Amino acid sequence: MGNNAILALLPICLFTCVIASFNSSTNEYALLALKSQISDPNKILTKNWSRGTSFCNWIGITCGKRHPRVIGLNLANMGLKGTIAREIGNLSFLRSLVISNNNFHGFIPYEIGNLSRLREIDMQHNDLYGPIPTSFGFLANLQNLSLMSNVLNGHIPNQIFNLSSLVKIDVANNSLSGSIPIDIGNNLPKLERIGISMNQIGGSIPPSLGRCRKLQRISLSFNKLSGSIPMEIWNLSELQRLHLAENNLIGSIPNEIGNLLSLQWLELGSNNLTGTIPYSIVNVSNLEILNIDTNNIQGRIPQELGHLSLLKTIDFPVNHLEGEIPESIFNLTNLQHISLAQNKLSGNLPSSINNGLPVLESLYLGGNGLSGEIPSGISKFSKLSTLDLAENSFSGQVPMTLGNLRDLQTLNLQYNQLKNDPSMVELDFLSPLTNCRQLKHLHFGFNSFNGILPKVLGNLSQSVETITGGFCRIKGMIPNEIGNLSNT
Ligand SMILES: *[C@@H]1O[C@H](CO)[C@@H](O)[C@H](O)[C@H]1NC(C)=O
Ligand SMILES: *[C@@H]1O[C@H](CO)[C@@H](O)[C@H](O)[C@H]1NC(C)=O
Ligand SMILES: *[C@@H]1O[C@H](CO)[C@@H](O)[C@H](O)[C@H]1NC(C)=O
Ligand SMILES: *[C@@H]1O[C@H](CO)[C@@H](O)[C@H](O)[C@H]1NC(C)=O
Ligand SMILES: *[C@@H]1O[C@H](CO)[C@@H](O)[C@H](O)[C@H]1NC(C)=O
Ligand SMILES: *[C@@H]1O[C@H](CO)[C@@H](O)[C@H](O)[C@H]1NC(C)=O
Ligand SMILES: *[C@@H]1O[C@H](CO)[C@@H](O)[C@H](O)[C@H]1NC(C)=O
Ligand SMILES: *[C@@H]1O[C@H](CO)[C@@H](O)[C@H](O)[C@H]1NC(C)=O
Ligand SMILES: *[C@@H]1O[C@H](CO)[C@@H](O)[C@H](O)[C@H]1NC(C)=O
Ligand SMILES: *[C@@H]1O[C@H](CO)[C@@H](O)[C@H](O)[C@H]1NC(C)=O
Ligand SMILES: *[C@@H]1O[C@H](CO)[C@@H](O)[C@H](O)[C@H]1NC(C)=O
Ligand SMILES: *[C@@H]1O[C@H](CO)[C@@H](O)[C@H](O)[C@H]1NC(C)=O
Repeated sequence: MGNNAILALLPICLFTCVIASFNSSTNEYALLALKSQISDPNKILTKNWSRGTSFCNWIGITCGKRHPRVIGLNLANMGLKGTIAREIGNLSFLRSLVISNNNFHGFIPYEIGNLSRLREIDMQHNDLYGPIPTSFGFLANLQNLSLMSNVLNGHIPNQIFNLSSLVKIDVANNSLSGSIPIDIGNNLPKLERIGISMNQIGGSIPPSLGRCRKLQRISLSFNKLSGSIPMEIWNLSELQRLHLAENNLIGSIPNEIGNLLSLQWLELGSNNLTGTIPYSIVNVSNLEILNIDTNNIQGRIPQELGHLSLLKTIDFPVNHLEGEIPESIFNLTNLQHISLAQNKLSGNLPSSINNGLPVLESLYLGGNGLSGEIPSGISKFSKLSTLDLAENSFSGQVPMTLGNLRDLQTLNLQYNQLKNDPSMVELDFLSPLTNCRQLKHLHFGFNSFNGILPKVLGNLSQSVETITGGFCRIKGMIPNEIGNLSNT
């Protein structure tokens, strides 16, 4: 190459090289500023982020393909402590910022709002304090924002709900206050998940949320929300999870719940809901978890529930439900948890219970007006670990088959009218329970048992921690063998 050619190229090279190295040195400068405010007990950055090597090779850094500038910063799970340096706002090309599961504290720098290419911010599980910067409202390309499990306070800036690119926003488990803006749904056409659970958000749920047609998950549990659940929510055909538990919501569950064909998980517990469980729930065929505990729901449990074959959890305790327990629910072979405790249910346990439920782990029916005998078929719930039939009017004898429940940990039969086999001197139902090697809690007091405690009581599992059997007309001595139960 001749001298002339070199001279001709020089200005171009000078120009591009200077610009490129200027930007690249800005990036390096910003990263080193970040590092300088971090304490690094695992010596991850200390060893790796050294000036001898290009920052594009540093751990947690992704650079663009064509230029040496940072587009991804991922410091998740490194055990880092410290504050986030405001120089982070100079990583102008950053698209993904992930610092989750560390111990970053202090404020989130306002300068992050300058990173207009950001698509993802994940700062969950740190100790970040103070407000969510209003400058986040400038992040026009932001898709996913997770600030879950920090100690952020103040209001959620309204500007965030104006970012039409948002797909996921999760600010659950902070100390955020204020209310959800009334026009929240006006500009979030792509929103799939919104998580604000475990904060101190008041006010009501805005009907405009129903305009976010792509919503799959709404999590607003553990706040101070009041008013009723807007009808528009029951119209979100892609909704899979609706978590509204532990608020002060009123009103009833409308028939329109039958529109939610994608719904898998409905959590409405600990509110002040009234009305009945609508029959239209039969159409919510993907439902797996149904939780309405601690409300004022009344009426009968619809037989139609028995068509929801994917149900795993039926959690209805502490309501005013009445009538019989529909037989159909004992046909739901995926059920793991049933609680109908503390209602006004009556009648016998259905005979279909005899078919068993192969994966049922807990059955809570205490505090109702159930009567008749305890079906021996309960022993076919082979995975059962909690059986609570207390405070009912069950009569007859305790089935001797309960000893087949090898995983049983808690058996509560107290406050019923159960009897002993009159031909036996001992409380015979206790003998088979020695087969339940996981048994921890056994309560059978306040019944009509009339006999003596068998010696075999001493052969109950060593895991037994509590036994109560008062007011049973139990005669005779407490057997010495009970001393074998070292954990009682
Ligand atoms: C380099 O940074 C400057 C100033 O921040 C900016 O204006 C310019 O677009 C960047 N150029 C390149 C090639 O990165
Ligand atoms: C820094 O970490 C990266 C990724 O683990 C590795 O490839 C690189 O060799 C490390 N550099 C130094 C100087 O340790
Ligand atoms: C970093 O950004 C700030 C503005 O946020 C600017 O004033 C400063 O000059 C930048 N630093 C470098 C080294 O580019
Ligand atoms: C972005 O950076 C510019 C200077 O480069 C500064 O004037 C502006 O305030 C910054 N904006 C935010 C939101 O930090
Ligand atoms: C945002 O989250 C969604 C769902 O988890 C994921 O598919 C997508 O890749 C994420 N986008 C970005 C930019 O991280
Ligand atoms: C909530 O956040 C705190 C830290 O701020 C954490 O210790 C706790 O485990 C989180 N709770 C949940 C349910 O994630
Ligand atoms: C939301 O965006 C619209 C137009 O894009 C604008 O008129 C409005 O002021 C913005 N609202 C907020 C709270 O930023
Ligand atoms: C529910 O959706 C239908 C069709 O998309 C619409 O006509 C109706 O007005 C919506 N109802 C509510 C309460 O949003
Ligand atoms: C529940 O709502 C009823 C009216 O429907 C009201 O009288 C009652 O005080 C509310 N209870 C609670 C705990 O908010
Ligand atoms: C269930 O859905 C079908 C088909 O959309 C409809 O005809 C029926 O009325 C619905 N049942 C209830 C109880 O809402
Ligand atoms: C339970 O299932 C069996 C067998 O599939 C069926 O014959 C019976 O009618 C069902 N019972 C109820 C109450 O749905
Ligand atoms: C208790 O268990 C021991 C050892 O397994 C056995 O020898 C004894 O007969 C049992 N006692 C009763 C009362 O069943």
